[in-house]
Amino acid sequence: MTYETILADTRDGGVGLITINRPQALNALNSTVVAEINTALDGFEKDAAIGCIVITGSEKAFAAGADIKEMQDLTFPQTYLDDFITAWDRVAGRRKPIIAAVSGFALGGGCELAMMCDFIIASETAKFGQPEIKLGVLPGAGGTQRLTRFVGKAKAMEMCLTGRMMDAEEAERSGLVSRIVPAADLLEDALKTARGIAGMSIPVAMMVKESVNRAYETTLAEGVRFERRVFHAVFATADQKEGMSAFVDKRKPDFKDA
Ligand code: HXC
Repeated sequence: MTYETILADTRDGGVGLITINRPQALNALNSTVVAEINTALDGFEKDAAIGCIVITGSEKAFAAGADIKEMQDLTFPQTYLDDFITAWDRVAGRRKPIIAAVSGFALGGGCELAMMCDFIIASETAKFGQPEIKLGVLPGAGGTQRLTRFVGKAKAMEMCLTGRMMDAEEAERSGLVSRIVPAADLLEDALKTARGIAGMSIPVAMMVKESVNRAYETTLAEGVRFERRVFHAVFATADQKEGMSAFVDKRKPDFKDA
């Protein structure tokens, strides 16, 4: 399938790759980009061979935010009637693991999109920020909520109130990104990480994602209860038998996603 604002293809080892591709606008996320990302994700989620997805941008920008030129003349009734931004939530609701590979600017909606993924691998050039306040608005795709959960109130409040950016080092130190890699290695590293995940049992990886995400939605006691039920359930899978037999037999497991 050909897209106008993204590239989407499958890579070896069960990986789906989405590259945001609007270089003239530093990958600003207009409604076409968001719709195309969702169409590509729909395809990857339906494809039984895909076990993990990577979303990336260019070296200069993962995405410099929602498209300001598209938003500037909107009125309140238009945003309300069109449920503006709600399409973005579909990214956060995906069931297969998604890695954000971030180089350069991840600002505003770009930072929010990265935070909707399951974890962020950053190049040493990455810069994260929620500069919406400088435009007279506020983050609208979960930034005030997710950033606060990642980095805590002090940093989130400062970033959202001043619009200052965080570099990769600070982002890693603060818990926003899982790892920093050299810019030249970013994509290869993210694809290799994704291949590793896709090589696990796909349903079990999906259960891991669902269980970790529960930690954000519920109390500790409920979260642990949910995890226990899922843990018991995996003993009904062939992949649990295969994974444990392979360990005992000192061989690599061959998961069948069953
Ligand atoms: C539309 C954008 C854009 C954006 C950059 N461009 N960001 N267009 N929406 N968010 C365009 C510029 O207009 C310019 O187009 C081209 O990309 C290159 O940008 P420059 O500014 O010339 O590049 P540079 O000087 O390198 O500065 C980079 C930058 C700056 C610091 C990232 O572009 C910037 O501050 N961008 C806006 C960041 C921002 O405020 N993001 C939050 C958006 S609001 P032309 O045609 O002039 O060459 C938001 C709300 C989220 O995200 C709410 C819900 C999702």
